[in-house]
Amino acid sequence: MKIDILTIFPEMFDVLNHSMIGKAQEKELVEIQTVDFRQFATNNQKHVDDYPYGGGEGMLLLPQPIFDAFESIEGPKSRVILLDPAGKKFTQKMAEDFAQEEQLVFICGHYEGYDERIKNLVTDEVSLGDFVLTGGEMAAISIIDATVRLIPEVLGQAASHENDSFSNGLLEYPQYTRPADFRGMSVPEVLTSGNHEKIRQWRLKESLRKTKQRRPDLLESYSLTDEMVQLLVDIQEEENN
Ligand SMILES: C[S@@+](CC[C@H](N)C(=O)[O-])C[C@H]1O[C@@H](n2cnc3c(N)ncnc32)[C@H](O)[C@@H]1O
Repeated sequence: MKIDILTIFPEMFDVLNHSMIGKAQEKELVEIQTVDFRQFATNNQKHVDDYPYGGGEGMLLLPQPIFDAFESIEGPKSRVILLDPAGKKFTQKMAEDFAQEEQLVFICGHYEGYDERIKNLVTDEVSLGDFVLTGGEMAAISIIDATVRLIPEVLGQAASHENDSFSNGLLEYPQYTRPADFRGMSVPEVLTSGNHEKIRQWRLKESLRKTKQRRPDLLESYSLTDEMVQLLVDIQEEENN
């Protein structure tokens, strides 16, 4: 996969040179490039922003440097993602879709926002959540991280993201590692039993319990199996006692 990021703060993306995403670049599973659109400004001062027509607070990104920088990028530009707090809220499902694409282009807004005509370049307007960031860079970094880790071979074992929260529509069950007893806090017995079927059932039940408690909205749209329905009945009975 190729990822191109239009930004006036390319150095902010150095963070992607570390950890799993850094390794994915080393293994050439993904190629990440930044394009500083200030370099494309045609005015003498290299300004990339100007006052909004009609008045109002703040400055807006000019269309010209962004259009020219976008046109300098080679490749199919399969998805062009504009970071915007008014966009569609980013989800694991979106990360799964993006991970299938040949090339992603991110456009990072800054200041008070951008000239609306920039949207003519865009296939997806995406928000990281219901809050306002200084610029689109932090949002792009999170989306790139969530997407690249889903590319096959990026994580050590192919299966290691399949049980992540949201991947199967539920929140992940609690996990434990050594020691079995730490300062009097012990690991649930079933996890040290070696009984794989019982462990599977316990994990499914705890995954359902956590989802029911924290994100009941996820269960509303979930196709529950008979086993899950029975486990939810058991959880409800436990809560009633
Ligand atoms: C200070 S914000 C501008 C906010 C804009 N005036 C508004 O009210 O929607 C500057 C830029 O940061 C990015 N940004 C801010 N919050 C974001 C969020 N929640 N998700 C994605 N991008 C965001 C966008 O690219 C935005 O153009």
